[in-house]
Amino acid sequence: MASTIFVLNGPNLNRLGSREPEHYGRTTLADIERLCRETGEDLGLDVEFRQTNFEGLMVDWIQEAGDVAQGLIINPAAYTHTSVAIHDAIRAAEIPAVEIHLSNVFARESFRHHSFVSPVAHGVICGFGATGYRLAIEALSDVIRT
Ligand code: DQA
Repeated sequence: MASTIFVLNGPNLNRLGSREPEHYGRTTLADIERLCRETGEDLGLDVEFRQTNFEGLMVDWIQEAGDVAQGLIINPAAYTHTSVAIHDAIRAAEIPAVEIHLSNVFARESFRHHSFVSPVAHGVICGFGATGYRLAIEALSDVIRT
């Protein structure tokens, strides 16, 4: 049976394409979803792709991923830097998680240098734009298989 991975996206990422293109490029979230589905198909993974602007809903989805999926890719967006609830949910889900950011958060404001998510992530990818999602799926696929 194919493994399922959740790809979860946090606040304001629904605005990709027009939001701060100097940081996030012109790629839309729909483009990223397509890239994730194609990459998942190539690797024999079922991809559940979602975006929310609400922290509690993100927690619900991480819990759901823990129940039904074999791995998680998450761009928590601004919640990366604020959310103990998302940290706790990922820890409790007990599935491998990859934290991803389109921009290189370490080359930006200092408040973006701390992540509540990194300590509970298997690994972190940042700074490669939409390509990072493909890299994250490939890396997670390896982790799930081994
Ligand atoms: C982001 C980086 C975060 O600091 C920011 O709040 C975002 C997007 C990224 O993908 O580069 O909304 O997660």
